[in-house]
Amino acid sequence: MKTMSRLLLKIFALGLLGTGASAQTQNYCKTCHSEQEVEFRDSVHREELSCVSCHGGDASTAELPQAHGKGFRGKITRAQIPAFCAGCHADREQMRPYGLSTDQYALYQSSGHGRKFAQGDAQVAICTDCHQSHRVLSQDNPQSPTHRQNIAATCGHCHADPERMRPYGLSAGVVADYEASVHAQAKREGSAARLPSCIDCHGSHGAAPAGVGDVSKVCMHCHRQTREFFHLSPHFKTLAAAGYGECAACHSNHRILKPGPQLWASTCVTCHEAGSTAARTGDQIQALFIQAQADIAQATETIIQARQVPLAVEDYEQRLSIASTYLMEAGPLSHTLDVAAVEELTRKSHSVAQELETEIHEKMTIFGGRRLVVGLIWLYLLITIGALQYFKRRSR
Ligand code: HEC
Ligand code: HEC
Ligand code: HEC
Ligand code: HEC
Ligand code: HEC
Ligand code: HEC
Ligand code: HEC
Ligand code: HEC
Ligand code: HEC
Repeated sequence: MKTMSRLLLKIFALGLLGTGASAQTQNYCKTCHSEQEVEFRDSVHREELSCVSCHGGDASTAELPQAHGKGFRGKITRAQIPAFCAGCHADREQMRPYGLSTDQYALYQSSGHGRKFAQGDAQVAICTDCHQSHRVLSQDNPQSPTHRQNIAATCGHCHADPERMRPYGLSAGVVADYEASVHAQAKREGSAARLPSCIDCHGSHGAAPAGVGDVSKVCMHCHRQTREFFHLSPHFKTLAAAGYGECAACHSNHRILKPGPQLWASTCVTCHEAGSTAARTGDQIQALFIQAQADIAQATETIIQARQVPLAVEDYEQRLSIASTYLMEAGPLSHTLDVAAVEELTRKSHSVAQELETEIHEKMTIFGGRRLVVGLIWLYLLITIGALQYFKRRSR
C-alpha cells in the first residue's frame, strides 16, 4: 500500500518536474565518467535526477569545454555536502510529492556530528558517509549502508577506527562492545523482536550523545516494566544525580550482557562497600535467585528421570513452567531492590518446585514397589516352571 502510494506520488512528481526521462535520453557525461554512471544506476535518485541536477554542465555534448560549461559546479566538497543535499531535502515543496520528511538537515545540525561540522571539522559524519554520493540506496534495500543490519558497520567505519577516534578522546571499542551485547547477539540469531542498533539509541540524523536523562528513556522504550520497578528503588533519581546512567550504571552502555545472579555479586560492590547495607541487599537478592534456580534445575532433572521410568509427566511439566514464570517475574521486580517482594515470588517458585519434586518421588517409589511385586511374581512363576520340568524329567 505504502509503495503503491509512493509510486503514484512519483508519477505525479515526474509530470510536475518534467525531469528524469528527458535528461537521461542524451547524457554524454557518462561517456567520460563511467564509474559514477555505473554507481548511479542503482541510486534512488536515478529516475528523478541526472548528473546535471547536482553538478550542472551540459549533458547533451561529449565535447569537453562545453560539457563542463553552463553552470558547471564541479566536485562538491565535504564542506559543502550537508547544505547541498539539504538544498532539496530540507525543501518542503520539493519533497512533498515523494512523501519524504524534511527534518534530516535540522536534526543533523543539532547532533554532535553537525555541531562539530559547523565548527569547520569535516572529519565527522556527513550525509554521504552514511548514504554515499552516487549510489544512494533506500534504507529498505539490504545492501544499503542505512539498512538495519548494516548500521553498526556504517557507524563503525569511523567509530571502530582508533586513528579517527583518538583526536576526539572517544573509545574505538563501542562497536565491538555493542556486537558483544545481548541485543546484537539476538539480532544475529535472527530474532524477530525489535532490537536496538546504534540509531535506536542515538538517532540517525540527531546522532547526539545520549545524555544521562535520554539514556533511561531509551531503554524504557522497550523495557517499560523493568523501568517501572526501577522507579520504586532507592536508585531512582539518586543514580542520575550522582552522574550515572540509570540502567547503564549496572548494565553498561554498550556491552550489555545476559544478566543473571552473578551480576548481583559483581555490580553492587563497584559503588558500595562490601558489607554495607546496600551490598548486603545485593547478596540477599542474589541468594534468593540462586536458590530458586537450583530448585527449578533439580525439578527439571527429576522430571527427566520420571519420563525414563516411564511416568506421565505432562502435568509436572506444566507446573514446572509455573515455577519458572514466578522466577521470570522476579527479574524485573528485583529492580525495586525490595528483598521481601523478590522473596515472595522466589518462595512461590520454590514451593511449586518442591511440591512436584515430592510428588514425583512418591510416584516413583510406588512404581518401584509395583515393579518389585511383579518381579517377584515372575520369579515365583519361573521357579515353579523350572521345578515342574525337573520333576517331569525325574519321573521319566
Ligand atoms: C569528454 C569527456 C568528459 C565529459 C563529456 C564530461 N567530463 Fe567531467 N571530467 C572530465 C575529465 C577529464 C575530468 C578531470 C579533469 C578536470 O577536473 O577537469 C572531469 C572532472 C569532472 C568532475 C570533477 C571536477 C572536480 O572539481 O574535481 C565532475 C564533478 C565532472 N567532471 C562532472 C561532469 C558532468 C556532470 C558531465 C556532464 C554534464 C561531465 N563531467 C562531462 C571529462 C569529461
Ligand atoms: C545527488 C547528487 C549527485 C548526482 C545526481 C551525481 N553526483 Fe557526482 N558527486 C556528488 C557529490 C556529493 C560528489 C562529491 C563527493 C564524492 O566524491 O563522492 C560527487 C563527485 C563527482 C565526481 C568527482 C569524483 C572524484 O572522486 O573526484 C564526478 C566525476 C562525478 N561526481 C560525476 C557524476 C556523474 C557523471 C553523474 C551522473 C551519472 C553524477 N556525478 C551524479 C553528487 C552527485
Ligand atoms: C536536486 C534535488 C536533490 C538533491 C540535491 C539530493 N536529493 Fe536525495 N532525493 C531527491 C528526490 C526527489 C528523492 C526522491 C526520489 C524517489 O523517491 O524517487 C530523493 C531521495 C533520497 C533518499 C531516499 C529516501 C528514501 O528512503 O526513499 C535519500 C537517502 C537521499 N535522497 C539522500 C540524498 C543525499 C545524501 C544527497 C546529497 C548527496 C541528496 N539526496 C541530494 C532529491 C534530491
Ligand atoms: C550518521 C549517519 C547519517 C548521516 C550523517 C545522515 N544520514 Fe540520512 N539516514 C541515516 C539512516 C541510518 C537513515 C535510515 C533510518 C532512519 O530513517 O533513521 C537515514 C535516512 C535518510 C532519509 C530518508 C528518510 C525518510 O523519511 O525515509 C533521507 C532523505 C536522508 N537520510 C537524508 C540525509 C541528509 C540530507 C543528510 C545530511 C544533511 C543525512 N541524511 C545525513 C543515516 C545518516
Ligand atoms: C565519517 C566518520 C563518522 C561516521 C560514519 C559516524 N561518526 Fe559519529 N562521530 C565521528 C566523529 C569524528 C565524532 C567526534 C565529534 C565530537 O567530538 O563531537 C563523532 C561523534 C559521535 C557521537 C557523540 C560522542 C560525543 O561524546 O560527543 C555519537 C553519539 C556518534 N558519533 C554516533 C554515531 C552513530 C550512531 C553513527 C552511525 C549512524 C556515527 N556516529 C557515524 C565520526 C563519525
Ligand atoms: C542500547 C542503547 C545503545 C546502543 C544500541 C548504542 N549506544 Fe552508544 N551509547 C549509549 C549510551 C547510554 C551512551 C552513554 C551516553 C552518556 O553517558 O552520555 C552511549 C555513548 C556512545 C558514544 C559516546 C561516548 C563513548 O562511550 O565512547 C558513542 C560514540 C556511541 N555511543 C556510539 C555508538 C555506536 C557507534 C553504536 C552502534 C555500534 C552505539 N553507540 C550503540 C547507548 C547505546
Ligand atoms: C529497541 C528496543 C530495545 C532497546 C532500546 C533496549 N533493549 Fe534491551 N532488549 C530488547 C529485546 C527485544 C531484548 C531480548 C533479546 C533476546 O531475545 O534475548 C533485550 C534484552 C535485554 C537484556 C537481557 C535480558 C535477558 O533476560 O536476557 C538486557 C539486560 C537489556 N536488554 C538491557 C537494556 C538496556 C540497559 C538498554 C538501554 C541502554 C536496552 N536494553 C535498550 C530490546 C531493547
Ligand atoms: C554506579 C554506582 C552504583 C551501583 C553499581 C549500585 N549503586 Fe546503590 N546507590 C548508588 C548511589 C549513588 C546511591 C545513593 C546515595 C547513597 O545512598 O549512597 C545508592 C543507594 C543505594 C541504596 C539505598 C541507600 C543505602 O545505602 O542503603 C541501596 C539499598 C542500594 N544502593 C543498593 C544497591 C544494590 C543492591 C546494588 C547492586 C545491585 C547497587 N546498589 C549498585 C550507586 C550505585
Ligand atoms: C543496581 C543495578 C541495576 C540497575 C540500575 C539496573 N539493573 Fe537491570 N539487572 C540488574 C541485575 C543484578 C539483574 C539480574 C537479575 C537476575 O538475577 O535475574 C538485572 C536484570 C535485568 C534484565 C533481565 C531480567 C528482566 O528484568 O527481565 C533486564 C531486561 C534489565 N535488567 C534491564 C534494566 C533496565 C532497562 C534498567 C534501567 C531502567 C536496569 N536494568 C537497571 C541490575 C541492575
